[in-house]
Amino acid sequence: MDENIVWHNYATTKAQRSEQKKHKPAILWFTGFSGSGKSTVANALEAALNQQGVHTYLLDGDNVRHGLCKDLGFSDEDRIENIRRVGETAKLMTDAGLLVLTAFISPFRAERDMVRNLVDDGEFIEVFIDTPLDVCESRDPKELYKKARAGEIKHFTGIDSNYEVPTQPEIILDTSKNTLDQSVAQLITYLKQTHIIG
Ligand code: ADX
Repeated sequence: MDENIVWHNYATTKAQRSEQKKHKPAILWFTGFSGSGKSTVANALEAALNQQGVHTYLLDGDNVRHGLCKDLGFSDEDRIENIRRVGETAKLMTDAGLLVLTAFISPFRAERDMVRNLVDDGEFIEVFIDTPLDVCESRDPKELYKKARAGEIKHFTGIDSNYEVPTQPEIILDTSKNTLDQSVAQLITYLKQTHIIG
């Protein structure tokens, strides 16, 4: 960073923005294979939270890759940069007082931990969608596993690109064993227990 760039303090604080919203800011970071159910669960949770008056925003891999990260591919290097940008964006959104939901494969532990360290203690909630690879592959909603097996897509997570399982996620969900409603209920219970929402 340029030494001539100096941090400017804002007159309005994170605490003030948060107070206005009547809930705490946080990042619910969904991680797991493609097809594991990250986007589905995050979407359903966001709808439920909105019904309860919680101010949210959902950052989803496929959507962010149409704009903010459209210059990035799926090499390890590009995935690292993808998560760095998304992490910084999510941090800004928590500063704005929002409850942020993110749905990215985010295959590497180091980058997930990097985002954890960007925000205050308790604000990063790692949600591991532990749906087995064979279930994700059998769902194959976008037929990408089929293409990856045929060698038409390279560096596909779970096939020829690595996924590092979270070691201490706050929440583990397996969408092959739980219904969508059960997953949403489990997440809402966690948010209430930790007093993030009322
Ligand atoms: S991440 O690894 O950088 O976190 P991200 O969540 O943004 O990935 O994007 C994953 C989505 O991109 C998948 O759900 C899938 O639809 C699509 N995709 C396209 N190519 C690949 C690939 N090689 N590996 C994984 N997902 C891919």
